[in-house]
Amino acid sequence: MKQIISLNVNNDIYQIAAYPSQTLLDVLRDDLGLTGTKRSCGTGTCGMCTVILDKKAVLACLTLAVECEGKSITTIEGISNPDGTLHPIQKSFVENGAVQCGFCSPGIIMTAKALIDKNPNPKEEDIKEALAGTICRCTGHFKTIEAVQKAAEHINKESGNGSKAE
Ligand code: FES
Ligand code: FES
Repeated sequence: MKQIISLNVNNDIYQIAAYPSQTLLDVLRDDLGLTGTKRSCGTGTCGMCTVILDKKAVLACLTLAVECEGKSITTIEGISNPDGTLHPIQKSFVENGAVQCGFCSPGIIMTAKALIDKNPNPKEEDIKEALAGTICRCTGHFKTIEAVQKAAEHINKESGNGSKAE
């Protein structure tokens, strides 16, 4: 039986009727129309459905929507600047030629955001480890790592935190 749940997604509060077995991914895409979060494997192996739940990168396809009540959910639609311009990570991906297809890019960017939010100066190994479950196998990963490093440097510079990612 469906139950009414209240979800905070990108700082907007939504009340929806959801089955206890319904995943966060289903609710985001099918009920809220937030299709930036991609559905691919549906079994927790590709990372394309990654969103941030209370500051942590999680797989929306393995997270039940009912478990997200009272928590803060951020999707790719919620990270741009208030004026609508791209988030520094998105900008860095564009500027450094790291944008990949529409399926994997949102998951990679959300994973990178959770990493930089937690570790403002990630080393290459940190980035590789964070993205291990998300990076696509279609192409090389060098540009992605470079883009994340440059985004971290930019964010640190803007926030006055001067140390440089290695
Ligand atoms: S859709 Fe592949 S891990 Fe969620
Ligand atoms: S899955 Fe997106 S480029 Fe490979």
